[in-house]
Amino acid sequence: MNITKMSGPVYRMGVNIHEEGYLFEGLWPIPDGVSINSYLVQGDKTAVIDLTQETAGLVESLSRQIEMTGTALEDLDYVIVNHMEPDHSGMLKDFVSKNKKARFICSEKAVPLLQQFCSVPEDRIDSVKDGDTLDLGQGQVLTFFMVPNVHWPETMVTWLDSEKTLFACDAFGSYGKVEDEIFDDQLSDERAAFYEKEALRYYANIVASFSMFVDKAIAKLAGLDIKIIAPSHGIVWRKNPAKIIEHYQRYASYAKGPAEKEVCLVWASMYGNTEKAVSPLIRGLKEEGVEVNLFRVPQDDLGHILAAAWKSAGLIFAMPTYEYKMFPPMATVVDDLMIKKVKNKKVLRVGSFGWVGGAEKDFRTRTEKAGWDIMDSVEFQGCPTEEDLKNVENSARELAKQIKEFVG
Ligand SMILES: Cc1cc2nc3c(=O)[nH]c(=O)nc-3n(C[C@H](O)[C@H](O)[C@H](O)COP(=O)(O)O)c2cc1C
Ligand SMILES: [Fe+2]
Ligand SMILES: [Fe+2]
Repeated sequence: MNITKMSGPVYRMGVNIHEEGYLFEGLWPIPDGVSINSYLVQGDKTAVIDLTQETAGLVESLSRQIEMTGTALEDLDYVIVNHMEPDHSGMLKDFVSKNKKARFICSEKAVPLLQQFCSVPEDRIDSVKDGDTLDLGQGQVLTFFMVPNVHWPETMVTWLDSEKTLFACDAFGSYGKVEDEIFDDQLSDERAAFYEKEALRYYANIVASFSMFVDKAIAKLAGLDIKIIAPSHGIVWRKNPAKIIEHYQRYASYAKGPAEKEVCLVWASMYGNTEKAVSPLIRGLKEEGVEVNLFRVPQDDLGHILAAAWKSAGLIFAMPTYEYKMFPPMATVVDDLMIKKVKNKKVLRVGSFGWVGGAEKDFRTRTEKAGWDIMDSVEFQGCPTEEDLKNVENSARELAKQIKEFVG
């Protein structure tokens, strides 16, 4: 991969992960890969901002790219560690063994992590507080801002005032590998839409639970005259940095109020009885002009479901009873939505049971604390009758009406 000279003394470097079957954070499928970006700023001293993970090939690739900027790895003066998650810090173990002089700049909370995760000796670490600066010489001054819980407690961002560039690490990132098009102004409409979709999925998977802290971070950075946002995943925003900030603000707002006029419909069925309710559900929603994001479990993955659920004002769960509880893969989905703090939703549940049911009680218990506005469920024994299916469709229509009122 080539390095890219950005504005002034800044280089963008990066690696891509796009192995088939790779799960980001060991959990989220990334069929179109993900980039891990690093940056290098040259003054009299040279600083590298965030590295990459400890994966064979990636460490070598980033090391080569650093050298291509003209600074040998062992001559780097500073490593700015915005975030300790190993996708950015894993390479440090290798780095510390090769570079004997660099100082490591991080937040106070990151200090013990840097020692424990990466074996960086304490006497080489300088912790910084909000607003602290590091002068690299030649007018290049880095300023650090703490953005706790976006998405780890030790996270900070780095500001280069001379280039009005924010090195935002995980904030404002997205999935999707990055190859020849590094900047937002190089993207076709289709590619721009791709990264927008991947930004939402990244947000829902990685950042969603911390939406309150996203709001705080954006408020804290509001005074900066940002011309470039350089995140550690995805493209660099230099034509319209406000766009990705607006996206993140909008995503964060879904934690507090209505999301979009859409429904995330997740269904499961062992023998086809619950499945018969899916078409009437879709019909009811569509007739009211509400978009449907359709998933089946266990076939579809949690990461995509989570992204659709996050952006939809309505949720529908259709599943049968299984051993007196919800069909197990659906329980996993529901529990994950709870963990990710998916709130403020209009919700409907439908499903088939054999003798006494049990999914209903299980569903209500698991979602007790969600604060969802849940309609009366539609349940049927075995195969749904014509009347059951009419009830299902009417309930979907009613849900759609509630969503339209909610979204306004
Ligand atoms: C493994 C298994 C466990 C089940 N457990 C229950 C149960 O605890 N309570 C109940 O009322 N029905 C139970 N059922 C019956 C199903 O809920 C019923 O057959 C339903 O119609 C299946 O819907 P489906 O065709 O959408 O999968 C169970 C069925 C299976 C196969
Ligand atoms: Fe992270
Ligand atoms: Fe990351």
